[in-house]
Amino acid sequence: MKSIDYGRTDGRRDYIFGDAELRREICEKLISLMKKSGYKETVTPTAEYYDVFSADPTRPMGNSVYKFTDEQNRLMALRCDCTVPIARIAATKLTDTPLPYRLFYCQNVFSAPTLGNRLTEETQCGAELIGTDPQNSMDADTEILELAAQSMKALFGLDFSIEIGHGKLFTALADLYGIDGGTAETIRKLIEAKNFASIESMNIPKPFKMLPKMFGNATDEDLSVLDSFVEETGSEKIKEIIEYIKSIIIKLKEKGYGNCLSFDLGLVGRLDYYTGIIFGGFVKGVGHSVLLGGRYDNLTANFGRALASTGFSITVDDIFDLLKDRKNGKAPEETLRPISIALTKGRLEKKTIELFEKNGIDCSSLINKGRKLVFPLDNGRFEVMLVKSRDVITYVERGVCDLGIVGSDTIAEYGSSVYELADLGFGKCRMALAGNAKYKNDPEAFFGGYSKKVIATKFVNITKRYAAARKADVETVSIEGSVELAPILGLADGIVDIVETGDTLRENGLEIIEELFPISARIVANIAATKLRKKEIDCILSDVMKV
Ligand code: PRP
Repeated sequence: MKSIDYGRTDGRRDYIFGDAELRREICEKLISLMKKSGYKETVTPTAEYYDVFSADPTRPMGNSVYKFTDEQNRLMALRCDCTVPIARIAATKLTDTPLPYRLFYCQNVFSAPTLGNRLTEETQCGAELIGTDPQNSMDADTEILELAAQSMKALFGLDFSIEIGHGKLFTALADLYGIDGGTAETIRKLIEAKNFASIESMNIPKPFKMLPKMFGNATDEDLSVLDSFVEETGSEKIKEIIEYIKSIIIKLKEKGYGNCLSFDLGLVGRLDYYTGIIFGGFVKGVGHSVLLGGRYDNLTANFGRALASTGFSITVDDIFDLLKDRKNGKAPEETLRPISIALTKGRLEKKTIELFEKNGIDCSSLINKGRKLVFPLDNGRFEVMLVKSRDVITYVERGVCDLGIVGSDTIAEYGSSVYELADLGFGKCRMALAGNAKYKNDPEAFFGGYSKKVIATKFVNITKRYAAARKADVETVSIEGSVELAPILGLADGIVDIVETGDTLRENGLEIIEELFPISARIVANIAATKLRKKEIDCILSDVMKV
């Protein structure tokens, strides 16, 4: 039996001595602010009936929730979310308490990580404003957004950004243009990933193409682009939604948060759940949103009582390291840091240098690089790090680099929480299934028969998705390089790999059985960086992509 290493807590975290004190200080700052604002603490059980969490069809639990059975064999779940149990309480236990309910919590949530390296146990502090006038959501949304901004201010001073979008905008747009459910979901996912290149290539109404670019600060100039969006749609419903966002921003500007606000019409995640505004909070030094919130008018109805509701939560573990560094005077002076670009070593490196030089950016340090790995370019305006393709995604996802240049094959294999800002048009090749020449262009014959097919590949996730889509019985074997050897040596029936010229396949007697998708080099961006350093990133993008 494998012995346990008791010093390690993979996916969980020990807070010891000063760390434990700081963690408590962070929670207490938020708790005291919420109390001062008239919110009352709510503590819910660590384990609930599983049905409490699965009651809401708009929040699919998937495999992320920890389930177990209790002593009476009832299916239970560890608390994977704090809002749902509070909605349960509001709907069932507070029927005699006058509306509205102002409730806050500071509790741990437990879930198997589905993305990146998130912890399986995290502390969330949040507030819920439940049961306000359903005809007037503006006052409640403003109140909760102001409390969110105050919470961020208490932690970070005025060095943060809250970005506002609307959960009903995309659906309204899809209805307006009669887009069917499947296509709408494809578009939604591309907009969520700010995948400009793919959206641009689709044959869809212009407003969908405008949507991912509709983000900016709360300045009059930036806000005015929203009017052009409304005009393009000519829809009263869309106008109403945009006016709502603008009015909220104006109200919060009046409260002194003008420089900390932005808008993003491309916020299109969890659309069925959010029934009105949605917002996220970002801070320099953390690569993703540290605060999430919005209006969720349909949640309490799952427990038998419909109450208009709005709220937000902050994940304490997400901000702990940054606040610890700041406390110790170690946090980098972000505003002085040049924009950093993680560049894939090898083929894409050469093409990128060519592109930069064509656009007047001196890359001599990169050309005569020796063993160096970090290169300041353009008089220190940005710096380039040379890394392996997989690591581009990791550096960008975690906010260590603001931008990355990587093939769309790597994004398809690993990337899910980065924005895909541009197709650079070079590094063109294809992902393909290849194997014995007798199956050339004949996937039906290759997958035919009853025997399981063994496919060797560097792209295990892509291969598994491909096999699932083909409903084929496939075993994938992970191979690091020279994948073509696997079928030659009898390890596999075929390979899923990149084909550029086709020379490697030809010289080894293999043929393409089926092409999966085309590949090219993309510019990806860290999500928080696009909010906090939008102008610098826009400027660099337009400079490097002039020609
Ligand atoms: C890639 C890919 C193929 C080859 C295809 O390998 O895995 O082997 O290029 O290119 P072609 O169609 O122009 O022949 P790479 O050169 O990156 O090396 P690797 O096998 O070590 O990953």
